Amino acid sequence: MSDVTIKTRENGPLLVSGPITLCDHLGNKYDLTGKENVALCRCGATQKRPFCDGSHKTCGFQAAEIVPTSAPL
Ligand code: FES
Repeated sequence: MSDVTIKTRENGPLLVSGPITLCDHLGNKYDLTGKENVALCRCGATQKRPFCDGSHKTCGFQAAEIVPTSAPL
């Protein structure tokens, strides 16, 4: 069982909790020392990619998806 959880935030980022390695497209690892949670931008407006900087609050990003209860993925 995985110790990593990824949770969507309504109109906001993806919250990643647990032991992860986050790399750029070249394979370089971001220093996440001491961070138990990481917020990854999914609105595209952040100035700190790939991390959320709170810009989703002012750019009009909307995302409120929920897990379907009647159909599998
Ligand atoms: S989700 Fe927060 S800045 Fe994009």
